[in-house]
Amino acid sequence: MPRRNSAIEYGSVTKTFHWLTALLILSAIPLGLIATNLAHRIEAGETDLIGLTTLLFSLHKTIGIAAFATALGRIIWAISQPSPGLLNGARRTEANLAGTVHWLLYGAMLITPLSGWVHHAATSGFAPIWWPLGQTLFFVPQSAVVADAASTVHFLASRVLIISILLHVAGALKHHLIDKDDTLRRMLPLAKATTTPSPAQPGHALPLVAAGIIWLGILGAGAAPALISLPANSESAAQQTAAAGDWQVENGTLALTIRQMGSDVAGKFSDWTAQISFVDDPAQDRNGSVRVEVTIGSLSLGSVTGQAMGADFFDEAKHPRAVFEADILRDGDGFVADGTLSIKGNAVPVRLPFALELNGNQADMTGEMTLDRRDFRIGASVDEAGTLAFEVGIAVALTAQRVASAN
Ligand code: HEM
Ligand code: HEM
Repeated sequence: MPRRNSAIEYGSVTKTFHWLTALLILSAIPLGLIATNLAHRIEAGETDLIGLTTLLFSLHKTIGIAAFATALGRIIWAISQPSPGLLNGARRTEANLAGTVHWLLYGAMLITPLSGWVHHAATSGFAPIWWPLGQTLFFVPQSAVVADAASTVHFLASRVLIISILLHVAGALKHHLIDKDDTLRRMLPLAKATTTPSPAQPGHALPLVAAGIIWLGILGAGAAPALISLPANSESAAQQTAAAGDWQVENGTLALTIRQMGSDVAGKFSDWTAQISFVDDPAQDRNGSVRVEVTIGSLSLGSVTGQAMGADFFDEAKHPRAVFEADILRDGDGFVADGTLSIKGNAVPVRLPFALELNGNQADMTGEMTLDRRDFRIGASVDEAGTLAFEVGIAVALTAQRVASAN
């Protein structure tokens, strides 16, 4: 069989590309659907599914990237080839419908994996792609906005793909079983075309325009609202609520790092308040006190944000706030906030060492500590450190202004 297409038949390269793409895509679809379903069950509390879900997502992504590479190769090859003419070109409506579905398939072959990849690259806390080429994409920033928009596009494009495949297969079977022509046979490996294309050929213009309009409609209607509403979730919009007290927090970050399946996942709380009273008095051990209240629901933790809110983790629905109350004590050159941290109804003694730089009425504070999530009964069902490490890193950095005295 010739490698190249001719005016009457598909060559071996086109056929190999066609069936390889079909195999990869038809594997990626059920893996994506099953893994997404499992992820929802984890959010509902079935945390013993984390290992299996990560495995299926890694498989889904790796096969998806292979499908993307194959689709690119296929398209480059198709551009350099003639296409054998249709066997039933005289039936214009049918031919235009088949052509439109082909263009939808070509679009979905690229848009589906690319949007999945962008979603993956824009977030952390992921099941890795099994390859040595890194997990990021040079043109994709780490951003919840980008990740959410890409996730919407991925969902929509995968639905276009599924519907198009159903129509495409129905068409192929109709040719084979009802029309009893060679359309399916000439795409099969090793088969040779025996029928010559019909003289009438409707051309690509109308199907291409139709598929373009469908793509614009679907992506415009589906992804545009996501893109417009997303700035509300954006990290840059996360502002501290001003705190009362001797010192007022101007800005700051409350970050945490977990280690999941061997990869660090960084997150932060965007809504927390701190009431700080502090007097720098070297003669005293106790120099003040602090009370921090954290809104658990304001946590963004890469792709595992939803899971973190679940009953086995922060149980946000029942325990929407964490509170840290501490005395500020002198500790060598620096200070330590020595007190109690209450998360999920568990009050645990905690020491947060921190450095303080005082410049007139401005104070810059940075501190770090490591907590053990088991002390707070967080992720109790995941008692395996390789899946989710017990240590959780906490980093605080804030700038506060001294509040002018009332008298
Ligand atoms: C041809 C290739 C691909 C197909 C057909 C495909 C299809 C799907 C499908 C059907 C789902 C379930 C969506 C739902 O029901 O909500 C899904 C989810 C997902 N896919 Fe893919 N996918 C492909 C490639 C990729 C690639 C290359 C990546 C990443 C590198 C990826 C990442 C994801 C992620 C993270 C989800 C979880 C749902 C979400 O977006 O939040 N996919 N995919
Ligand atoms: C994920 C799955 C699939 C994708 C993405 C896909 C995509 C495509 C595309 C884009 C074409 C047009 C080829 C060209 O432009 O020259 C095509 C042709 C064809 N496909 Fe598929 N296909 C898939 C699965 C299948 C399956 C399962 C069947 C069989 C039941 C099938 C049967 C055919 C046939 C017979 C043709 C030739 C049509 C003709 O000669 O006019 N495809 N496919």
